[in-house]
Amino acid sequence: MHIHPSILSADFANLESELGTILNADAYHVDVMDNHFVPNLTFGPQMVESLQRVSKRDLDIHLMITDADIHAPGYAELGVASVTFHIEASKDPIQLSRKLKSIGAKAAAAVKPATSVNELAELMPELDMILIMTVEPGFGGQKLIESTIAKVSQARELARAKGLEVAIQVDGGVTEENIATLARAGADTFVAGSSVFRAVDRNRKIDLLRTLAQEAGRG
Ligand code: DX5
Ligand code: ZN
Repeated sequence: MHIHPSILSADFANLESELGTILNADAYHVDVMDNHFVPNLTFGPQMVESLQRVSKRDLDIHLMITDADIHAPGYAELGVASVTFHIEASKDPIQLSRKLKSIGAKAAAAVKPATSVNELAELMPELDMILIMTVEPGFGGQKLIESTIAKVSQARELARAKGLEVAIQVDGGVTEENIATLARAGADTFVAGSSVFRAVDRNRKIDLLRTLAQEAGRG
């Protein structure tokens, strides 16, 4: 069970010191938004390069950008641990996944709440991780959309049926109230932005979330 805090909820003027407050994380989730695929604008490659230089944890890059086939490989080339593109934004997801892996990053594909998990079926053997969005991408601090939990179970079932070891990440509105349900549904990698950054002791919150997921996953 892996907890990936989203630095979308961090203080952007003090990112290096903010990273130092969440060292119990398994990786840092970086939300790249282009004001086109989603109505918000965040980091670009130069910023990710700087984060990669100072980060003491792996970077998990979540690209919410159009034309992923063109732009995603450049993020992998920065040496980040994983690159997630949206299936809705790629014309050739199989080739893109292979390209990301050939550069040395883990390859992951995401689905928005309205996109069926079946869209990932053919691609799944190429992927290290799939990301089920549990909110509409674009902003932190939203409430998890309950109907997306069934998609997590479907994705886990699909992976099992294909005999694949793919990781399943959930992103959006993850809290200590719902993380056990998500873990039981089959998620093993949890993005948490506002719930971690709002906590007085962020590292304790990360540990609590991981423990809750582990306990639920075992049961
Ligand atoms: C939303 C982003 C998420 C977001 C999660 O588009 O992909 O990573 O930062 O934030 P919370 O945990 O606050 O929903
Ligand atoms: Zn994200």
